[in-house]
Amino acid sequence: LISVGADPSYLRLKNQLIASTGLAFYADRDNELTELIGQRLSDLRLCDCSSYSQFLADSAGGAAEMDVLIARLTIGETSFFRDPEQFAAIRDIILPDIFERKQSSKQLRIWSAGCSTGAEPYSLAILMARELAERIAGWDIGIHATDLNRDFLARAAEGKFRAWTLRSAADEVKRECFSHEGHTWTIHPRYKQWISFRQMNLAAREFSNPLGEDARFDLILCRNVMIYFSPEINRRLIGQFHQSLEDYGWLVVGSSEHNPENYKNFSSVDASGARIYQKRPAKLAALEMATEPQVQPRPAPEPKPREKPRIEAPRERDRTDLEELRQLADRGDWQSASEYGQRLLAGDRLNPEIHFFLALVFENLGMVDEPERSLRQALYLDRNFALAHYHLGLALKRDGQMAGAARSFGNVLKVLNGIPDETAVMAGRGITAISLKELSKMHQEQSAGS
Ligand SMILES: C[S@@+](CC[C@H](N)C(=O)[O-])C[C@H]1O[C@@H](n2cnc3c(N)ncnc32)[C@H](O)[C@@H]1O
Repeated sequence: LISVGADPSYLRLKNQLIASTGLAFYADRDNELTELIGQRLSDLRLCDCSSYSQFLADSAGGAAEMDVLIARLTIGETSFFRDPEQFAAIRDIILPDIFERKQSSKQLRIWSAGCSTGAEPYSLAILMARELAERIAGWDIGIHATDLNRDFLARAAEGKFRAWTLRSAADEVKRECFSHEGHTWTIHPRYKQWISFRQMNLAAREFSNPLGEDARFDLILCRNVMIYFSPEINRRLIGQFHQSLEDYGWLVVGSSEHNPENYKNFSSVDASGARIYQKRPAKLAALEMATEPQVQPRPAPEPKPREKPRIEAPRERDRTDLEELRQLADRGDWQSASEYGQRLLAGDRLNPEIHFFLALVFENLGMVDEPERSLRQALYLDRNFALAHYHLGLALKRDGQMAGAARSFGNVLKVLNGIPDETAVMAGRGITAISLKELSKMHQEQSAGS
């Protein structure tokens, strides 16, 4: 191998590659990069980085060579229903909200940005076709899936997966949605009908909305992609996603990609362990700045009581106060939410819901003991508060207290035993008993197994 690291043009080539792919991840991975470039130089019989830069930029084969590099530089780790809490939030909060708001056009546009080999868009198609068949009847649905890596896209279009990619999919999903031979699982063609795959570079300076300049999406997923990019590119990208969304459209990012600064033009909503973002229209955001705190973002609608009765009727007197607290939290204004919540609590110490919301606020403020203390207080006041048991389980699991976590998830199952599946759980913003039970079972197994 040619010694690339010592080549005076290496640094320029490296910076060019990072700039054109967005993959700042390689800024401190010189070993991997120099090994790859060394191999390409010897395969192409080129003598140094500067002739390789020229080859990439000028020759007819430059674009194809760039694809070879991209195939080696991108990391396509993905799986069906990865981060199940996010899929529960999509099913229970995001899609019902969109169905509600777009009744008249019945048009649903989703963008899976950085879709890798397709597990993400196919999971969405499976979720809608299997679990929301009645709701989507008559709807015009498009799932636009894009990625930088053409090999991944070709594999996605083919729809063949190894068993490992299906490790989080339920057995009946595997049975009903795939055929398989040996270790290869092929998705049934009916789940391809809404999806189109297209190559697109999210780091390109000229951002192209895959639907066209003026079109807008209802939901954008860009999960586990921005971890590889620089903070500057991410800021720009999130701004571009905001522009590409309908007013009140939704953005779902990877579970480690929450930097509150980046999402200040969105309302953030916490649902079953997932944080999701809803676009605040630019006009409203500007108004808010001028008139805070009177103008509030429009929250996701609660499910209609006729469809999903609550376990416990809300105490009307507290409703507006709690809604106010919730909206402060949704805007990510955790400090004000904390102050407001504590004022509410001073006047109503025995209200379990205030303790519960405060716990979520404390958690977002990065406090260590307070969230658990508030959740225990909520549960002391109401043993049947399923979502408080659930969040206590999540907190204990995060702390590595697995036995306690498993007990808390078990308590959720006890409390919800016998409650009809479609019932909305208290303080859950439309989360149904069945989805909370499923999530709790999953966490209970994980906690008990470790
Ligand atoms: C770890 S995978 C995530 C796949 C999927 N979103 C998920 O969460 O399961 C990251 C994907 O981002 C893609 N990617 C990396 N840089 C990109 C860029 N500049 N533009 C578009 N996609 C990119 C990679 O090719 C890869 O498929």
